[in-house]
Amino acid sequence: MCGIIGYTGVKGAQEIMLDALEILEYRGYDSAGIAVCGEDSCVRIRKCAGRVKDLRLLCEKDGILGTCGIGHTRWATHGGVSDANAHPHRFGKVTVTHNGIVENYRDLVQRYRLEERLQSQTDSEVAAAVLDHFYSGDPLAAIRKTVLKLKGTFALSIMFEDIPGTIFAVRNVSPIVIARAQGGSMLASDVTVLGQYSKEYFVLPEFYVAVLKAGGVELYDMAGETAEPEWLTVNWDVDRSGKGGYPFYMEKEIMEQPQVIRETVLPRIQGGIPDLSGDGIPDSLLADCTRICVVACGTAMHAGLVGKALMQSLVRIHMDVELASEFMYTDVIVDEETLVIAISQSGETIDTLEAVKHAKKNGAKTLAIVNVRGASVARASDYVIYTNAGPEIAVASTKAYTTQLAVLYLLTGRMAYVRGSFGEEEAKAFARELMRVPEVMQKVLDRREEIHYIARSILNAQDVFMMGRGLDHAILLEGSLKLKEISYIHSEAYASGELKHGTIALITEDTPVVAVVTQDKVKSKEFSNIKEVQSRGAGVILFIKETFGLEKDAVWDSVFMLPAMEDGFMVMPASAALQLLAYYVSLDKGLDVDKPRNLAKVVTVE
Ligand code: G6P
Repeated sequence: MCGIIGYTGVKGAQEIMLDALEILEYRGYDSAGIAVCGEDSCVRIRKCAGRVKDLRLLCEKDGILGTCGIGHTRWATHGGVSDANAHPHRFGKVTVTHNGIVENYRDLVQRYRLEERLQSQTDSEVAAAVLDHFYSGDPLAAIRKTVLKLKGTFALSIMFEDIPGTIFAVRNVSPIVIARAQGGSMLASDVTVLGQYSKEYFVLPEFYVAVLKAGGVELYDMAGETAEPEWLTVNWDVDRSGKGGYPFYMEKEIMEQPQVIRETVLPRIQGGIPDLSGDGIPDSLLADCTRICVVACGTAMHAGLVGKALMQSLVRIHMDVELASEFMYTDVIVDEETLVIAISQSGETIDTLEAVKHAKKNGAKTLAIVNVRGASVARASDYVIYTNAGPEIAVASTKAYTTQLAVLYLLTGRMAYVRGSFGEEEAKAFARELMRVPEVMQKVLDRREEIHYIARSILNAQDVFMMGRGLDHAILLEGSLKLKEISYIHSEAYASGELKHGTIALITEDTPVVAVVTQDKVKSKEFSNIKEVQSRGAGVILFIKETFGLEKDAVWDSVFMLPAMEDGFMVMPASAALQLLAYYVSLDKGLDVDKPRNLAKVVTVE
């Protein structure tokens, strides 16, 4: 979760770090801080509860000159949101920023008699104290001894007071990436920020120590032997970051979808048929498994639900979708014949990462669908397909979700073909429809002001229910999550047929209902279910496939006609419409659309 930055070089560290922290805010934004080693070799800290803009104000009044520093933007875990709990933390000669959770911090406090000496309630300060305890002039030895004592996950960037101009970094699970940039060396919690500065970077391997100096980076293993970094290239266009004239990243990212879906799909259609050989996916992987199990969290899990509906109907294979956070604790059955698909935008969600490791231990083959190249989930999996969404900055996921869906369509198409559910002509027809998605989705985006108008009708609602069947239900789960997370309106998505088994008790004239109707086989049942809520006074906002037409006597609060595709693909235009609905509600409520309260984009704690 928390964002980490570090810089040592020839330029002013404070400005570089403040700019980088602004980009990193999507990882957490309840407090921020920097520590800079000044020209007199003293390490000074500026930190505060609040946003990076508050930290910037603090630094404008009382800045620190120096060319080496570490910075942090926080998503609180241990200890509330306060100036004292903001990072960096200094203990003795050691200053650290930390991302992760030191699970045994209470034991460490007792063991090293720290109770009276800590300034904050954080586990991170305890890590600084243990480092200081072991430090007697040999930083690598102190780091080595400390990490043996820490239980849990950590990405630590460290400065020692008597080693000016040098940053040390070590990690377990929580990521750190490192690059040569800005006339020096930089580290960060993710490549989105480093990509602004450098085209090449490497992921710090777990339990290796990186030593960053102005002149370069050294890498050591735990035995103190030097190691060679494995350099990677930034795989996305850095120009795509920045708001591109939109008021929020979320709107920009919604609008980018036709382009990024095209870039995800087109290279993977060969000879008119979905083809994943360019990603190194052997057909045998898809042909030989007897079941599929998706592990994912949040929006990525919702993408899995759409994948399940597609796979089961077109490939006729058993598929489960498991919450990654529950996967290890619910005795899910996975074996050598199971293909486990891990879906993750960031590739750093710790629950998803742990689920992949657990699945591998049980003999399953693992395939990751990830956006960020080189991310932990991708590296932990046997195979990876990258979505080509580019950097997604808004906390609420949009283009990452629909590119995940695009990959799931490709997988479904290829799997159906290699397992014989599709003949060549069917596979080609499927691919042709998939290639139409960008233009159809564009039609929805071009009519976004219609959705803006509709959004006004739920602006003051306390609760919004959403209803649909089959694929419509799967996409409404995501539509409802989007509305909740950025508008703070309570919302629930229900399978239409299930509503009457209890939840309909909550339907009144004050609970607007969003209904999505895009599946011909359940259309008439959907209309009956909609009538049930209308009879209880609810106003209904209808998103319907345009070719279905409307019943003459029906009354709707609002109707949005979704441009038509084959039913199995209606997920795509409908998703864009629901994203816009949530976006405009949040926008018109005057909320910070990109940084909803309490959330973080990358969740690296269990
Ligand atoms: C967080 C984000 C969600 C995201 C989920 C999974 O909760 O706020 O938007 O869906 O993590 O993230 P991942 O990077 O694994 O897709």
